[in-house]
Amino acid sequence: MPYPVFRPRRLRESPLLRSLIRETTLRVDDLIYPLFTVHGRGVREPIPSMPGQYRLSVDELVKEAKDAAGMGIPAVLLFGIPKEKDPRGSEAYAEAGIVQQAIRAVKDTIPDLLVITDVCLCQYTSHGHCGVVEDGRVKNDPTLDLLARTAVSHVEAGADMVAPSDMMDGRVAAVREALDEAGFPESPIMAYSAKYASSFYGPFRDAAESTPQFGDRRSYQMDPANAMEAMREVALDVDEGADIVMVKPALPYLDVIARVKGEFGMPVAAYSVSGEYAMIKAAGRLGWLDEERAMMEALVGIRRAGADLVITYFAKDAARLLERGGTP
Ligand code: PBG
Repeated sequence: MPYPVFRPRRLRESPLLRSLIRETTLRVDDLIYPLFTVHGRGVREPIPSMPGQYRLSVDELVKEAKDAAGMGIPAVLLFGIPKEKDPRGSEAYAEAGIVQQAIRAVKDTIPDLLVITDVCLCQYTSHGHCGVVEDGRVKNDPTLDLLARTAVSHVEAGADMVAPSDMMDGRVAAVREALDEAGFPESPIMAYSAKYASSFYGPFRDAAESTPQFGDRRSYQMDPANAMEAMREVALDVDEGADIVMVKPALPYLDVIARVKGEFGMPVAAYSVSGEYAMIKAAGRLGWLDEERAMMEALVGIRRAGADLVITYFAKDAARLLERGGTP
């Protein structure tokens, strides 16, 4: 029915009408807040390329986590920065490793907050790659055991869910099997299934000191040009036992999010990564765009594409705005 019978503007006239027919919601329950933890006490070191984000010692991390939980944020995603790096990333799976300490401290003080952990070696290896390096190459199969050990050590420390982010083949099956054997058949896995080799991880690598010391991550992370391959990656992870599948980054890959949701109907997480955060923050600071509105538009866009969960450094900012009744 063409104009003048049909006038789409009729339903845009007032905020109440607009909210009545809004198709997509963003709720605080959809958000996961990533946090970085370092050794020491009383450390709250700002990350220059991620304004508002910090490297936190465990005592400060607990405060931050409490703050997030108080705002209704259901989950944090923990990343550790070790004291020392070595070729096999030993601190990643050490019982007294930094993340293991952080998990225990958060679960002791805020038992109701979900603790999810990133399972990877790159912050912990001296070469900065996500796997074991032999003859100048990142080796797949020798890495699986270390990833599985890392995941088990996180769950032993109290993690509610593990999130393997390394992109080795077969790692979801390896983690699943190791968790089951260790007596944790009920601990879920959120797999970074379609993780692209992205320039948008730049600020994170500054924060986590995890830039590869040689080469890049293109032999294991995906080519940004490929979407069908993402479907194959997701299918493998689902077969191997992933409970939640993830697409990462989010904004340049909204089509991939939509396809994964449509084809698999699995719970889908999208990771709006450090570079997406940095772009909006930087433009906001320069006065080139309205930071709050850009943030909400990005987050609701990721939800509209099909993500059930959004991992975002904006979690607290968005929670604050939603609390005030702000809409996207
Ligand atoms: C570890 C990991 C990375 C991110 C999450 N887990 C870095 C990478 O793969 O280089 C990036 C997160 C972000 O940019 O916010 N493998």
